[in-house]
Amino acid sequence: MKPKIYVTRKLPESVITKLKTFSEVSIWNEDTPVPREVLLREVKEVDGLFCLLTEDIDKELFMHANKLKVVASMAVGFNNIDVNEATKRGIRVTNTPGVLTETTADLTFALIMATARRLVEASDYLREGKWKTWSPMQLTGQDIYGATLGMIGMGRIAQAVVKRARGFNMNIIYHNRSRKPELESKYEMEFTDLSTLLKESDFVCVLIPYSLEVHHLIGEKEIEMMKNSSILINTARGGIVDEVALYHALKNKQIWAAGLDVFEKEPVSVDYPLLNLPNVITLPHIGSASKGTRLKMANLVVENLQRVLTGESPLTAVN
Ligand code: DGY
Repeated sequence: MKPKIYVTRKLPESVITKLKTFSEVSIWNEDTPVPREVLLREVKEVDGLFCLLTEDIDKELFMHANKLKVVASMAVGFNNIDVNEATKRGIRVTNTPGVLTETTADLTFALIMATARRLVEASDYLREGKWKTWSPMQLTGQDIYGATLGMIGMGRIAQAVVKRARGFNMNIIYHNRSRKPELESKYEMEFTDLSTLLKESDFVCVLIPYSLEVHHLIGEKEIEMMKNSSILINTARGGIVDEVALYHALKNKQIWAAGLDVFEKEPVSVDYPLLNLPNVITLPHIGSASKGTRLKMANLVVENLQRVLTGESPLTAVN
């Protein structure tokens, strides 16, 4: 008998076809999150779960799952999953690192450039009919070439951002749980404490996984240390930055701009204060959103499910 898998979102047909070669598949075939009560019902009798970062995979869910062997998430971040509880119950958890590194680094760099050069504001200026003449100080931004980039985190995606920053002759400093001496010489960058990084950087780029220990790592006190001309970029997880403190700092021009792809509670509504400041570029969590990468992520999830359900080790295990 084939193992049963539940898929929590509509996916490309090619992905479902692959899943069906080794399992019996049921799907929440909508492009909206599966309602909690449906998920709790569906998880009861399945062996594998294909889920997204929009689902809470918590103790309550595991209590409903009578034969679950693997939770395969289509994301690199897994802060939505109670991994300890899964481990206690002998359930494997997998994620999708690697395949999304370059695409997420591209988006991070795009935010660096778009905030520094005020691209969204400038485009709106033109569309709103405000462009009457060329003017010396009109829509002036910050230089990227040669500026100081402070990386918080030095994992795969951060390293891919650093590679791009080298091409822009940026002066790179970083703060991370552990020092990476081999990367320091490779990318000519320096390790600093967090305060020094905040004080010296023109761009502060947050790229660490979320956990309770780093909740609001960047709060009022940390933002106060930043230069008035500096820009904060967050393409990691919203909870790392205190959004209320950030809003006030941006409104009062205590820092110059921010580029945010992630929020503490997603999705945010149109009246969310940060969306209504001219010096913020806000995106709907699209870091890994290229067609090719999203397909690679989905296919990696399929491979992980197949491996665990046939008794092999998954390619990218979390526990
Ligand atoms: C992840 O994978 O964790 C990103 O946030 C979405 O691709």
